[in-house]
Amino acid sequence: MQIQENISLKPYNTFGINATAKHFAPFADVDQLNQLLDLKGTGSPLILGGGSNMLLTRDLDTLVLKNEITGITITGEDENHFYVTAGGGENWHKFVLHCIDHGYAGAENLSLIPGSVGASPMQNIGAYGMELKDIFYQLEAFHIADRQLVHFKLNDCRFGYRDSVFKGKYKNQFVITSVTFRLLKTPKFNITYGAIQQELNAMNINDLSIRAVSQAVINIRRSKLPDPNVIGNAGSFFKNPSVPTEQFEVLKRNFPGIVGFSNGSNYVKLAAGWLIEQCGWKGYRKDDAGCYDKQALVLVNYGGASGTDILALSTEIMHSVEKKFGVLLEREVNII
Ligand code: FAD
Ligand code: EPU
Repeated sequence: MQIQENISLKPYNTFGINATAKHFAPFADVDQLNQLLDLKGTGSPLILGGGSNMLLTRDLDTLVLKNEITGITITGEDENHFYVTAGGGENWHKFVLHCIDHGYAGAENLSLIPGSVGASPMQNIGAYGMELKDIFYQLEAFHIADRQLVHFKLNDCRFGYRDSVFKGKYKNQFVITSVTFRLLKTPKFNITYGAIQQELNAMNINDLSIRAVSQAVINIRRSKLPDPNVIGNAGSFFKNPSVPTEQFEVLKRNFPGIVGFSNGSNYVKLAAGWLIEQCGWKGYRKDDAGCYDKQALVLVNYGGASGTDILALSTEIMHSVEKKFGVLLEREVNII
């Protein structure tokens, strides 16, 4: 176990930003994590998973610790469920494929989301009609200051839309070391969202299976989202904003094409991609920072953009959306 000095983080973040870490080390278990924290004192370290939801805007003086805790094991079973525990450093999509291979149902709609298992509870990852919370059982996290492992059950995590207690009151306090999922023995298919059914039809699927649903989601995602290995990005840069129903009605009168989804409450969730596209940003490029031409919610790095270039573009986009629609966008990506 060795701390490396002055390491470029370019290979470690999907935006492909070339920031430097003064001290960098991977850890493969809790003991190693504990020892590394001893070596570098009490300053708040940056915990790195797959680097797929962060924008690095500066070189880092603090210790950067890359989670490489692996392992996927069945840790329990009841009449209807398998309880499966995965190390925080496991790749998320690899975990989903493992579930599909073993017939554990429930994770398939979350196929092909980049990043690690350990980061999945951070923003309660979601896609295609599901969120992490729907299959979450508990997690184990290491408290950096107290140096002890703490268990969090579902209610402790305060999961919300792209949100959890780890982004809020416990920000930078814990390292998530493993997550236990509660998966179904008999699948309960969720194929009403977006184009899943349409894609299953195009695939000529007659016998529905979790593998088929996973493949449909993968196909849709590949058609819309840029592959970080080709174009740097961190997925949706902003959250989809919610506005009160009355505000939505006024917006709809002024902008009849506006895209919004009522979630049964007094709020309507707006498609931020539509708002951004209407402001003329879709396909925009300034030097190497841009707004993806197939999905306006995704900001991209064509190669040489810095974190501050991307951040400046995001600020311009936020200002123009606020000016045109009176709606404040909030960044989803963690700005470091
Ligand atoms: P990182 O980027 O490494 O870290 C994110 C944050 O969590 C940082 O603040 C980091 O310090 C912290 N962190 C990481 N690991 C730990 C840990 N073990 N303990 C404590 N803190 C930690 N997200 C969705 O929700 N839905 C999508 O559909 C989706 N699609 C995407 C598509 C693309 C092409 C890309 C590039 C990203 C997409 N994302 C999506 C965002 C991203 O994949 C998820 O947020 C993912 O969970 C991030 O995992 P990571 O390991 O890369 O996190
Ligand atoms: N739209 C446009 N123009 C665009 C993009 C979108 O008009 O350029 C409109 C369209 O009407 C489209 C609607 O927005 O039907 C929704 O677009 P899409 O289905 O692509 O989903 P999204 O709302 O942009 C969200 C998540 C994604 C997740 C998908 C699928 C957020 C912030 N983003 O995107 O998550 O994969 O739904 O469930 O909630 C991420 O968090 O990084 C992410 C990629």
